[in-house]
Amino acid sequence: MPAKAGIHSGKSMDSRLRGNDNPLPIYFLNVHQEIGCLPTPMKKQFIPLFMLLFLFASGCQEKPTAELGLDGQLREIIASNGLTGDPSQGRDLPEITDPIAQLGMNLFYTKALSGTGDSACVTCHHPLLGGGDAIPLSIGVDADQPELLGPGRTHPEGPLVPRNAPTTFNSGMWDEVMFWDGRIESLGKTPLMNGDDGYGIHTPDRMFRYPDLEAGANLVEAQSRFPVTSEEEMRGFDFGMDTGNGLEVRDDRSRNLLAAIIGNYGDGAGVLAKNDWLAQFQAAFNSDAGAEDLITYQTIAHAIGEYERSQVFVETPWKAYVAGNDDAISESAKRGALLFFTSSADGGANCSGCHSGDFFTDEQFHVLAIPQFGAGKDSGIYGDDDWGRYLETGEPTDKYAFRTPTLLNVEVTGPYGHDGAYQTLEGIVRHHLNPTETAVAYDYSQLDPSIRTVSSVDYTQKAVEQLQANRTAGVLTVMDLALTDEQVADLVNFLLTLTDPCVKDPACLAPWIPDESLPDPDGLRLIAVDAAGNRLN
Ligand code: HEC
Ligand code: HEC
Repeated sequence: MPAKAGIHSGKSMDSRLRGNDNPLPIYFLNVHQEIGCLPTPMKKQFIPLFMLLFLFASGCQEKPTAELGLDGQLREIIASNGLTGDPSQGRDLPEITDPIAQLGMNLFYTKALSGTGDSACVTCHHPLLGGGDAIPLSIGVDADQPELLGPGRTHPEGPLVPRNAPTTFNSGMWDEVMFWDGRIESLGKTPLMNGDDGYGIHTPDRMFRYPDLEAGANLVEAQSRFPVTSEEEMRGFDFGMDTGNGLEVRDDRSRNLLAAIIGNYGDGAGVLAKNDWLAQFQAAFNSDAGAEDLITYQTIAHAIGEYERSQVFVETPWKAYVAGNDDAISESAKRGALLFFTSSADGGANCSGCHSGDFFTDEQFHVLAIPQFGAGKDSGIYGDDDWGRYLETGEPTDKYAFRTPTLLNVEVTGPYGHDGAYQTLEGIVRHHLNPTETAVAYDYSQLDPSIRTVSSVDYTQKAVEQLQANRTAGVLTVMDLALTDEQVADLVNFLLTLTDPCVKDPACLAPWIPDESLPDPDGLRLIAVDAAGNRLN
């Protein structure tokens, strides 16, 4: 990688377009390379030899890169990557006004779904905090101030949750895996289906890659069955009991008990002092069934999932640019986009090698050696390391590998990385450019002192070694890149074009935040405040 690698390196346009390490057959590449002047739809087809000969005979030549200009080059990239700028296209997603999404919103905000009565989904996924919690490692049950969200949220023992909370925004757009380690996995992985393709969904309730018949309709619904079984997130340490039989670790007891509490029946009868949930479920599902039939963890998970899937925030400046408005993004952002989508062999930064497509993720797992810290996730002899995808697959190259995050709305979803190691976009981007040295040089004192960093340096070193081993083995990793400060700024400016203005506008987000006009079925709705005591919602 030359030090001044950049967009004006004089390489032919089409060799840039080849970027992204696409495993296209060679003959296709060659054809593609020779036909830069063809209209794009034709490039996607096999071109008969006689036509090529004709084209050459007629003097078809590539236009020089300079002539195309930034917009021309980007429009070529957009066409050859088949981008629309809008990953919601072609998907079946609910509106927030949908009665089931409305019920899901109430459930998402109630502390009644935690075994301790002090933690709700919204505790770690607040719309005004980018659909996350704006702190490196999440804090669930037993927080010092349960209603305080964002910076300043503390737990007497430090965060016990091992990872950073990803955003729930656009969660209906995952088609393959959810969670940093992909432990919720669509077995069909059909594009645009969010796991709802009939092949089944694997969850931690079943052995690896076996379908979980209780998973529900889609990946998001399947995911929402798990936070309530996590002791540190919502369940608490003495609520319900495992019924695992050694082969499976299905953990329905806490789920069933919570459903009974919400439904006011069986062991849950009378637990909530106020309970108007049945009427809400009956209205949402348009049913007059009784609580035991209507309020199960299945219907709870479905409603929560529909609420999250209604969080569609894709109206970005980048989308407007892709749609044809050359003025939608700045010149710097355009240079950043060119770097982003161009392979490193062609002088680009190859970001789209992993952050691919309109959702900016390949939904695959890669080792980036983001500095390790925190309580850890059952990894290593002390259980305080986090081996990421390896915990699922046992594949050596998956050790310390985490799922490629989406970059839509990344401006508001920090801190960044699976444990929130980086506070700024510039920080996480610079990490990518030289991960091994950046990881080792990481300054742990920037973290809240309550975050566990006891073995962090050792574990980070191991992650660095794994990254190097993967590079040697030819596994797709980030490569060291010497970018100028201007190029880094260009990349960051491009990332900022991936923000839907709605996610920065409380008035626009209001439909996803219950206000006083919406009945609170149990009086346990979490009313979030910031560290200064001001109301978030
Ligand atoms: C204590 C904080 C906390 C609470 C409470 C919590 N979550 Fe999360 N959530 C997280 C963390 C941390 C992760 C990442 C965990 C991992 O990948 O291993 C996560 C992951 C997710 C994801 C996966 C996103 C993705 O990109 O794959 C979704 C969706 C989600 N949570 C929804 C919910 C719902 C629904 C609830 C309530 C039933 C909930 N969360 C409760 C912290 C929390
Ligand atoms: C080899 C695959 C790969 C390439 C290439 C790559 N990334 Fe990433 N990126 C990832 C993975 C994996 C993570 C999460 C790693 C972790 O947390 O351990 C990530 C994290 C990020 C994040 C943080 C997002 C969040 O929500 O935490 C940003 C921003 C980002 N990448 C931008 C870029 C940019 C810009 C480039 C090009 C310079 C790039 N990436 C190249 C795989 C890649």
